Amino acid sequence: MKKIILSAVVVAMSATFLSATTDKEIRQEAKAAIMKMGKTLQMHMKQNMKAGGSVQAASFCSDKASAIAKEVNESYAKGVQAKRVSLKYRNPANKPTADEAKVLQELHTMFDEKKSLPKILVEEVGKNHYKVYKPIFINKGVCLVCHGADDVRDPAAYKLIKAKYPNDKAVGYKIDDLRGAFVVDIVK
Ligand code: HEC
Repeated sequence: MKKIILSAVVVAMSATFLSATTDKEIRQEAKAAIMKMGKTLQMHMKQNMKAGGSVQAASFCSDKASAIAKEVNESYAKGVQAKRVSLKYRNPANKPTADEAKVLQELHTMFDEKKSLPKILVEEVGKNHYKVYKPIFINKGVCLVCHGADDVRDPAAYKLIKAKYPNDKAVGYKIDDLRGAFVVDIVK
C-alpha cells in the first residue's frame, strides 16, 4: 500500500508509517538533492539572463536543461535521482509518471481549494524505495517571461521555446501558481 506523509503532520503521525529516523534521513537527502538541482539550474538561468537577456536564457534552457539535470544526477549518491515534473510540462523529459501525476493532481486540488501545501511530501513506493515531492511555484515575476499568458511572455524568447517544444503546455501561469514539483527518487 502506498503511504503519503504530509510534512505538516507532526512526527507522531509519520512515526506510524516510517520510523522517525528513516523519515528524517529521507527528507534530508531529498532536500540536499533538490537544493543542488535547483541552485544549479537557477545559476545558469541567471548567468544567461544577465549575458543575453530572455532570448539567450530561453535558448540556453531549451538546449541545456536536460544535460545539466543529467550531470547533477550523476553527482548524487547511488540510489538518488532528482527531476522536475509538471502536469503542464514543456520538456517531455519532465512528464510525470502515472503515480507522480496522481500526487501532482492531489497537490493541485489542495492548491485550488486554497489549502496550504506540504513543503515536502514523502511517499513510500516500495520496500526501501521512496519518492519525495517538493512543490514548485511561479515564485518570481521573471518566470512569466517564458511561462506566462500570451500577452505577458517575451515573444522572441517564446518563439525559440516553441520551436524546440512544439507541444509545450507550460504557459498561461500567473504569479504564485503551482507549477509542478521536484521529485527525488531514493532507493535505500
Ligand atoms: C528564459 C525562459 C524561462 C524562464 C524565465 C523560466 N523558465 Fe521554466 N522552463 C523553460 C524551458 C525552456 C523549460 C524546458 C527545459 C527544461 O528546463 O527542461 C522550462 C522548464 C521548467 C520546469 C520543468 C517542467 C517542464 O515544464 O518541463 C519547471 C518546473 C519550470 N520551468 C519552472 C520555472 C520557474 C518556477 C521559473 C521562474 C523562477 C521559470 N521556470 C522560468 C524556460 C524558462
